[in-house]
Amino acid sequence: MEQAVRVPDAGSTASEKTPSTEPQSVLARRRRTCIESLVGISSQIQQVRTLITQVAPSDANVLILGESGTGKELVARSIHRQSGRASRPFVPVNCGAIPGELLESELFGHEKGAFTGAITARAGRFELAEGGTLFLDEIGDMSPHMQVKLLRVLQERCFERVGSNKTLYADVRIVAATHRDLESEIATGRFREDLFYRLEEFPIQMPPLRDRVEDLPVLVKTLIKRLENERGTLVIPKPVMEAMQRYTWPGNVRELSNVVERLRVLHQNSRAELASLPEKILRASVGITPRHLREADNDEVDQGKSAAGSPGVHLPDQGLDLKEYLSAIELYLIRESLDRCDGVVAQAAKLLGLGRTTLVEKMRKYSVQDQGLWRRRADVDALADETH
Ligand SMILES: Nc1ncnc2c1ncn2[C@@H]1O[C@H](COP(=O)(O)OP(=O)(O)OP(=O)(O)O)[C@@H](O)[C@H]1O
Ligand SMILES: [Mg+2]
Repeated sequence: MEQAVRVPDAGSTASEKTPSTEPQSVLARRRRTCIESLVGISSQIQQVRTLITQVAPSDANVLILGESGTGKELVARSIHRQSGRASRPFVPVNCGAIPGELLESELFGHEKGAFTGAITARAGRFELAEGGTLFLDEIGDMSPHMQVKLLRVLQERCFERVGSNKTLYADVRIVAATHRDLESEIATGRFREDLFYRLEEFPIQMPPLRDRVEDLPVLVKTLIKRLENERGTLVIPKPVMEAMQRYTWPGNVRELSNVVERLRVLHQNSRAELASLPEKILRASVGITPRHLREADNDEVDQGKSAAGSPGVHLPDQGLDLKEYLSAIELYLIRESLDRCDGVVAQAAKLLGLGRTTLVEKMRKYSVQDQGLWRRRADVDALADETH
């Protein structure tokens, strides 16, 4: 019978080590990144924080699900930090970025001469994560062959390096994440059901940013603070914040972070302007026409205070054309619902509490007759432009 060997301490991993040649600003940013916590006042984020606190002390496998940029890696790091394994390594592996044939040796290591190019023996990520946490990111992209290998480690807690028959014992906590819908991947045969249930001992679903717009002010404040030591202070006026709250953020917090960085570059030590927001945000933002852009850059909002209490609209000092404004809102919501229902009018009508014929009439009014158009954002935006 093969003997299980406990792997000696691997120390901190390459991924956690910082080469001393990096500039101070990069080091400072990385240090801040390491202690980043999950920011948000929404009930969804509070719930995620509670789940992290509950699961962290256990050794349960955690599966974090959610769209890109929603903070899955941040959650994985928080679980590790709050666990009894915090003083041991946190080792991330992007299963989607490493080609299938290399992933096996990346995870389990290899012996010298195990394959062409294996000129020295090398420890894999399981060994490097000894006593700590292995974060299997983009697990939904893992090949069927590797899924079988991983399942065995989860079941038996042991593995072999490629080219070796010595069994190694793995004292590693597994946290996995994916933006994919694993249940539909199972239905189409791309993901193993048995592996899914192993990983899913404790699932955490990350809510998309568009479903928790009340988090935007505090997130923006935090993101500005993260950049603070590198550049001056940025103020976000109320109309800019409201425009951002009306956008749907397909790239979630990562996209928000990019927008804040852009505003920061454009307005060092000053107030951001609506016109500096990316085109897609302005377009998606109800009632923001070139005229509003000229008129609405007023009225600063205290960053950090939620603007959720406002109805989400802004009356410029010089007033506005109410009919045009309400039409824009109506068009925006029609657009959103059709988008969300992939162009299926009956479903979109249901979402809006309208009869199907009423929605069809409204679509005709706004020249939205071709349902297929709603399948492509670019076309949607082009139509919105025409009506402004
Ligand atoms: N609630 C939050 N509070 C503070 N920062 C956040 C929050 N959510 C995400 N971020 C920041 O947004 C960026 C993206 O987060 P992260 O990498 O964890 O997302 P992800 O879900 O793993 O994305 P992907 O699927 O694209 O890998 C990071 O810089 C992270 O610090
Ligand atoms: Mg990630």
